[in-house]
Amino acid sequence: MLDVRNIQSSYRRVPAIRDVSLNIKKGEIVAIVGGNGNGKSTTLRAIAGLNALDGGAISLKGRDLASVPAHDRVKHGLVLVPEGRRLFPRLTVEQNLMLGAFATSDAHKRQETLQYSYDTFTVLGERRRQQAGTLSGGEQQMLAMCRGLMSQPDLLMLDEPSWGVAPKLVTRIFETIHTIRERGITILLVEQNVHRALEIADRGYVIQTGRVVMEGSGKDLLGNDEVRQAYLGM
Ligand SMILES: Nc1ncnc2c1ncn2[C@@H]1O[C@H](COP(=O)(O)OP(=O)(O)OP(=O)(O)O)[C@@H](O)[C@H]1O
Ligand SMILES: [Mg+2]
Repeated sequence: MLDVRNIQSSYRRVPAIRDVSLNIKKGEIVAIVGGNGNGKSTTLRAIAGLNALDGGAISLKGRDLASVPAHDRVKHGLVLVPEGRRLFPRLTVEQNLMLGAFATSDAHKRQETLQYSYDTFTVLGERRRQQAGTLSGGEQQMLAMCRGLMSQPDLLMLDEPSWGVAPKLVTRIFETIHTIRERGITILLVEQNVHRALEIADRGYVIQTGRVVMEGSGKDLLGNDEVRQAYLGM
């Protein structure tokens, strides 16, 4: 599905990612974990085409993305739910969802996904005409994920979906990630909640100062002493 090879990216010439390689097979849940400021979000933004590459290459379903601008990557099935959600707080729940569908011409699919969102998260259906900014943090995250689904992704990238979400809703968010995969959507997940992320991921990558320093199955990484000491406080 996705092949990322030795990518580098910087902000005003200061490197943020120095050497990141990863691959994702169709139907997998893959997690990128690591502490603050190590380049997790930059990696997702580079894949989405929002940050330029200084080196390396990214291909999606065998197609090199170098010449594909960010808005066209969405049409190719690559969708990012950004850190902090970036909803339009004064627009309604439904307006936010419909904005996710800007690249989709298939009205039937749009309607089906809208209905799926309302069925899965009844609160979104109940509040469809309410301003998005009035939802709780967890509800806003659900809305952001559903907005991502409205873009009909093949690969959905989620940046810190548990951020700002009350503990009792965090479980719901991670369950939803599973449910989304059952819809046939491949998932690349970035999380500071290392334990939860590795628990649901088939495979994971540990990123440190802009480099991939470890990779393995979610289970192996969870049991790895270095990972446990550095990220799980064990
Ligand atoms: N807009 C920006 N301008 C300048 N530097 C930035 C910008 N965004 C990120 N950086 C820097 O790039 C590096 C990687 O940041 P990035 O946001 O990718 O890390 P992260 O792993 O997602 O961190 P967090 O867990 O805090 O979200 C950091 O040193 C950060 O300070
Ligand atoms: Mg980040």
